[in-house]
Amino acid sequence: MRGPMALVIGGSASPLLSLRLSRALRCGLVRTEVRRFPDGEIYVRVRRDVAGERVIVVQSNGRSQNENLIELLLTLELMKDMGAREVVAVVPYMAYSRQDRRFTPGEAVSAKTVCRLIECAGADHFITVDMHHRETLQHFSIKSNDLTAAHAIGGYLKRLRLKRPLVLGADRGAAERAKNVALEMGADHDYIEKKRISPESVRVSVGGFDVRGRDVVIVDDIISTGGTVAESARILRKNGARTVHAACTHPVLVGNAMEKMRSAGVRRVIATDTIESDVSVVSVAPVVAGTLG
Ligand code: R5P
Repeated sequence: MRGPMALVIGGSASPLLSLRLSRALRCGLVRTEVRRFPDGEIYVRVRRDVAGERVIVVQSNGRSQNENLIELLLTLELMKDMGAREVVAVVPYMAYSRQDRRFTPGEAVSAKTVCRLIECAGADHFITVDMHHRETLQHFSIKSNDLTAAHAIGGYLKRLRLKRPLVLGADRGAAERAKNVALEMGADHDYIEKKRISPESVRVSVGGFDVRGRDVVIVDDIISTGGTVAESARILRKNGARTVHAACTHPVLVGNAMEKMRSAGVRRVIATDTIESDVSVVSVAPVVAGTLG
């Protein structure tokens, strides 16, 4: 992928990641020009001839999900129409990935629809990071990769020199993620038992391990409302944890999520640039470049 024939096309949702990726790959970067028609519809233009090139379209789907998704689809099809040799879609956070099953009869499986749209629009290769459930990739017939940010997050946390660190997955589904983060830090790991009551509220139990005097890190793929982290932090602090940190790949951070976590006693929230935010202190550019290089 190195050399003059690769080109990064930076979407409006991923300005930093696309720059970092083009640097890591030592290739050119062209930013998509995105405008709005008076009725709100999106207009996309790429002012560069891409015929015969391998293009890497980088466009995350954080908020506003629908707009960022449409921009991605328009750009992918544009690249194909302009004669790109290969179109790689780097979608570090894919919208609708949590609705990956029909939990209740009659529900749309949105993750499947989004995968099919991306493929139909012209992607030859799909790359994402810490997909909510890796099995979602089965909806692609093109080559696809689900990379993990766990090692990069673990490396960052290791440099914080936490005291007797304990890494806890925010639920059973995050146990493997927590293990990989902990391995990088040389720390212990386990996971929290969580039961979701509604989209905004959860019940957690941290019974199985002693957190007294320890620096605890809660690890999750997504922090959305901050409810999971806040509820867990409150209990961990009550049980004697010295500090509580929270680490995630995708900082969706809806509404007052940061404030909610801080007032529950979370000392620091760290995340990656799959969604670019104030807490995105870890970049996934090296891991994405590693797959493409
Ligand atoms: C759900 O299974 C995810 O892995 C996260 O735990 C969830 O999205 C976190 O949501 P919130 O921050 O709203 O509690």
